[in-house]
This record gives sequence, C-alpha cells and structure tokens, in this order.
Amino acid sequence: MSTVENRIPSLQALHALNPAQQPAYPDPAAVLEVTAELRQRPPLVFAGECDQLKHYLAEVAAGRSFLLQGGDCAETFDAVSATELRAKLRVLLSMAVVLTYAAQLPVLKVGRIAGQYAKPRSKDTETRGDVTLPAYRGDAVNGLDFTPEARTPDPKRLIETYNRSAASLNLLRAFVKGGFADLRSVHTWNADFVRNSNVEDKYEALSAEIERALAFMVACGVDDDTLRNVDFYSSHEALLLEYEHALTRIDSRTGNPYDTSAHMVWIGERTRQVDGAHVELLSRLRNPIGLKIGPTISTSDLLALVDKLDPESEPGRLTIISRMGADKVRDVLPPLVEAVEGTGRKVVWVCDPMHGNTFETHTGYKTRAFSRVAEEVNGFFDVHDALGTWPGGVHIELTGSDVTECVGGVDELDEESLADRYETACDPRMNRNQSLELAFTIAERLAAGNRKRVNPVQQYRAEDF
Ligand code: PEP
Ligand code: CO
Repeated sequence: MSTVENRIPSLQALHALNPAQQPAYPDPAAVLEVTAELRQRPPLVFAGECDQLKHYLAEVAAGRSFLLQGGDCAETFDAVSATELRAKLRVLLSMAVVLTYAAQLPVLKVGRIAGQYAKPRSKDTETRGDVTLPAYRGDAVNGLDFTPEARTPDPKRLIETYNRSAASLNLLRAFVKGGFADLRSVHTWNADFVRNSNVEDKYEALSAEIERALAFMVACGVDDDTLRNVDFYSSHEALLLEYEHALTRIDSRTGNPYDTSAHMVWIGERTRQVDGAHVELLSRLRNPIGLKIGPTISTSDLLALVDKLDPESEPGRLTIISRMGADKVRDVLPPLVEAVEGTGRKVVWVCDPMHGNTFETHTGYKTRAFSRVAEEVNGFFDVHDALGTWPGGVHIELTGSDVTECVGGVDELDEESLADRYETACDPRMNRNQSLELAFTIAERLAAGNRKRVNPVQQYRAEDF
C-alpha cells in the first residue's frame, strides 16, 4: 500500500542533507508535537485540483495561455482579513482582465497567497545598534518585532500558518465562485478607488469595452458560468521542511503523494541545491512545481535540476521562474532557455522581475524601481521572441492597497515618499496602480505577439466551417 512514509523521504533523511534556510528551533520536542498535530489536520487543497492546475500549466507551456502569479513577498497573520484578501484578489483579477483582453488568451491566475509565510534570508541574524537577534524568517517562524521573545523561532506558528492559510483559502474560494469575480462587475472591483491617474482611466476605458462586449454576448444568448466564476489557485515557496512534509498526503484516487498545503509550491533561489533536501522532497511530489533561478545558475545545474524535478517530461509539471535583473536578463536567459528546450521538455517560462532589481535607498529603504521591473519584463519578452519560445507568464510581488514601497510608476513615487506607507514585512511590493500599470505594459507585449498568432475567433471559424 502507498503510504507517505514509503513514498517520500523521512524528515530525518531530509535533515541529513543539511537543508539551507531552516529555523533553529530551541525545543525539538515541541517541533515533533506540532508536526504530529499537522499530520492529523485535513488537507488544504485536493489532489485533483493540483492536477487541474498542472493541466492548465501545460496549456501555458504549449503557448495557449498566460500565467499571472502574484501576491505578497511575505504574508502576515495580521493581514488575514476580508479587506486585505479582497484587495489582493481584486488587483490580481483586474490585471488578469487587462492581460486576457490584450492577449486574447486565457490567463491562469495563481496567488502567492494562503501560505506564503516563510522567508529565506541572506543573513541568519539582524543587528541594530549593539543588539543582535535572529533574523525575521516570516510569520511561520518568528515575529517581526525586534525583541528576543518575538525573534525566537516558535514551532506553534506552523499551526497558525495552517489555520490562517485555511481561513484565507476559504474566503478566496467563496469570492471566486460566489459572484465577486463575475466579469460583469469588472467596473466595481475598482470603484472605491479615487480615479487619480492615467492607469485608472485606461482601466475604466477597458472595462467599458468589456462591458459592451459582454452585453453583446448576453444579447446573443451566451450566458455562461465562465463569465461568473474564475479558477484561482494558491502557491507559496516550499521552504519549511517540517510544514511541507507534514501536509503531504497520499491521494486516495491514485496512490500518489501531494503536498496539500497549496496547489503549486516552488523552490527558492537559495534552496535549489541539486542534491539538497528541498529538491529531494519536491521531486517526489505530484503537484506542479516551480523553480526560481537567478543569474548565477549554470546550464549544467539547471539541466540536472530539470531532470530531477521533471523526470517524466510531463507538460505543466515544471515552471521555471527566472529573476535575473533588468541588466542581465538578455544575456543570461537565452542559453538557459535553449538548453532546457533542447531536452524536448514542455516547461512554463515565467519572469519574476522583482527579485533581481532590489536596491537600498540612501535613507535605508529596500525598494525597486518600476522602470527596472518593466525593463526586465521587456527583456524577458525579447529573449523569447528571439528564440521563438513562449514567454509563459509573470510572477509579481504586489498588494491591493496604496502602499509606498516601490519607486516610480504612473504616480512617480519618489524615494522621499517611501516613508508614507512602507508596510511590507519583507520585500517591497507594487501597489495597486503600479500593478495595473505593469499589467498594461505586459499587455502591450502580448498584444504585439497576438498580431502574429491566429486569434481565437479565426480559430473558431476555421474549426466550424
Ligand atoms: C521570493 O520569492 O520572495 C524570494 C525570496 O525569491 P528568490 O527565491 O527568487 O530569491
Ligand atoms: Co520576495
């Protein structure tokens, strides 16, 4: 019989591989208690949904769909509220509408949400003045306050991670299937924001066009559920081995192991060692898997990772998320894409234009410039255009409110304004206007590509007559 124990390595075996970026819990017995409890909890997602997502990702890999993946760098327990979740979903849905309209292709929507609570850090400790404490590693591990109590890793936070993820998923599922995502309310998603910018005018114009098109369809008798509901999936970085291991379950239909903490999980740039514990664990799971790659990766390492993570060359299994930086993407990405394409695999190529473009202002804020982010996206599209491969999607750190964390964009946010609403627990996120503006930037590239493709109406006509 297939059991978790005989399908995936034990936690001891994973720890024997010296996993990077794991918390130093002071009390090992407390960790055992927590993992035992988590193993008894119901799964957060159903294996069948993970398979569905893999199918949709295979459509992206084939160039028939585009992936929009986004959300906070680090979710926080406090931000699990209806207002915050609605705002994030609303910005993602608005971006998806802009992209769908431009590309005339389905846009697959995946949140960095309902589980994105653990962070890899470049340093194990943080020093302020003459006090040094453990670095903040996300609400799943410790607290952001700079006190010894908050910063000591507490395994009970993994139970809270599960609970907050469950509550978030529950509300998100209700929103996307219960009417909030109805395309006919495309206007109202943004109604409570003051119309103060170019981007919003553009969005208004686009929603008016969509409403006219919908009215036409309804008048013709097309009144379909697909206009009312959307499919929305959850994802996060699979960083904490205790948590991901404890939420792995055997699917009763197929006997295969799935990490039921999210539909899709990814391996970060700092934990992608070919013989490391994260790659070992995720290689055994049947979820769709993401792999983040930065500019220092070698072609041979990438090929070894791809072999290990996608041994059966399964379309949609592997999403490669590159985060090279605007200056490097055009040089570094092409040989990597060529090497993987040369294996005949159908992977999804995604651009994370955030993590390679972070810098610190003279006032000490970690930020990103909208122009550099847009430039990496353009570089990514240029690379794929030149190679004839499909730029499958984007992976963005964003939030639904008007924070001031990234500079530039339509509101021309400057370095001095960052102090106004700098609220992130980790990396700087695009605010709502910057996210929508980025969506319009991507839309332009998709629309340009679209002119070269057969559009869905032509295809429909060709099939019917
Ligand atoms: C992240 O996605 O927040 C992150 C830490 O990215 P990376 O692993 O690419 O550095
Ligand atoms: Co980040």
